[in-house]
Amino acid sequence: MAKTKVAFICRSCGAVHPKWYGKCPDCGEWDALEEHRTSAAQARDAHKGLAEGWGPVGVGGQIEPPRAARLTEIDEGRDPGGRRIVSGIGELDRVLGGGLVAGSAVLVGGDPGIGKSTLLLQMAGAMASRSVRTLYVTSEESAEQVKLRASRLRGAQESGEELWVLADTNLARIVEQVRTLAPAVVVIDSIQMIYKADLDASPGSATQLRRCCMELVYLAKAAGVAVVMVGHVTKEGALAGPRLLEHLVDAVLYFEGDRHHQGRIVRAVKNRFGATLEIGLFEMGDGGLREMADGLSARAGEERRAGSVACPAIGGSRCLMVEVQALTATGFLGSAKRRASGLDASRLAMLIAGLEQHAGMRLADRDVFASVVGGVRVVEPAADLALALAIAGAERRRAVGGGVCVFGEVGLGGEVRPVSQHEARVREAQRLGYRAVVCGDGPGAKGIEVVRVRSVGEALEQLA
Ligand code: TYD
Ligand code: MG
Repeated sequence: MAKTKVAFICRSCGAVHPKWYGKCPDCGEWDALEEHRTSAAQARDAHKGLAEGWGPVGVGGQIEPPRAARLTEIDEGRDPGGRRIVSGIGELDRVLGGGLVAGSAVLVGGDPGIGKSTLLLQMAGAMASRSVRTLYVTSEESAEQVKLRASRLRGAQESGEELWVLADTNLARIVEQVRTLAPAVVVIDSIQMIYKADLDASPGSATQLRRCCMELVYLAKAAGVAVVMVGHVTKEGALAGPRLLEHLVDAVLYFEGDRHHQGRIVRAVKNRFGATLEIGLFEMGDGGLREMADGLSARAGEERRAGSVACPAIGGSRCLMVEVQALTATGFLGSAKRRASGLDASRLAMLIAGLEQHAGMRLADRDVFASVVGGVRVVEPAADLALALAIAGAERRRAVGGGVCVFGEVGLGGEVRPVSQHEARVREAQRLGYRAVVCGDGPGAKGIEVVRVRSVGEALEQLA
């Protein structure tokens, strides 16, 4: 009988252990180890499929013979960030740092139904319409469904002859098609459904995910194609086990937004070829996703209600005017609710304490709810002051004026601190037609009033 080797792979961090543990010794996750059996022969050949018969896929799909390992000088050969494949969807290209890099692997995560397939199909279509050969591999839908969807989508409609669709879940067959078709871009929607037939594990398991992802990354590097994979998020909100796939790929994008809102944000959380924290803004509509450079911005002209404050927040290289809202209601002393959506819950708790200590407000028996309008997530401390004014405004039923926006970090002593990119925020406020900004110390600008405040108490005087 063939000898088998048993190993245990952590579903969360991908660590391999020789025996089973209830808790992964590497990442501390409970009940995450998954048994993985390989025959001795398979174990020996583990890298065979990767190394053999692989070379750049030339035009026309010719495979070059495999080359032996060789050393290269660091400035020799391709510039990793050099060959960019631009989609023409500006917001997406921006997040990628100026387009997809040839030979790179990108993972796109997000909740089901948020629009990952839509975005990538539009991207594939837009690239194809620029004569970039693109293969869209669908493992969840049929080719007909994808074609039907493409016919309705902006960008995908005029894709011309270079957009190819393959409905398959078998990795070997997909790789085979990539070799013959020789596309410049391959989209895998989604990686969870792809399986490698010679692995004794079910699709979507840690073993399958890791191996399929590794082979696709290798395919990208060896053949110089850009591979974009869709990954579903787990119920904990992480991408198929937090570190399982993320460290294998060159870039990780998260597609966020609220299903019930039309605004969608693509965020780079890892990018070997560009800046992280970069965001792209979209709106989901009839013809698919539409770029929204300005669409989510809180308008200057609108009269704000009590508890609603505009705040210029920074995401990547751009400034976005968001609307922070708060609501206070009767609660019970000792068990008052504090809920934040799109905001950091611990900062909300800290600000409530700050308002009690330094602004003489009594909130201990008040429920406080806070959120950012439009499903946007703002976690930077620069939103503190706006949130504090929203809470105080909601409680005292007083509003900040319509043409006024607010930013600044609030310290534990109730002091308002200056924040990074002060000028960019003031400039954005001015561009959107705001009359005044309330903030910590920082330079002023012509054409807009800059009201500098030193403490939360002083800021509260701005409530009308
Ligand atoms: P989809 O891209 O299938 O999501 P994912 O791949 O992330 O699971 O998007 C599905 C949602 O998008 C669906 O609820 C309907 C909506 N949608 C539109 O509103 N307009 C459109 O043109 C399309 C294609 C989808
Ligand atoms: Mg999908």
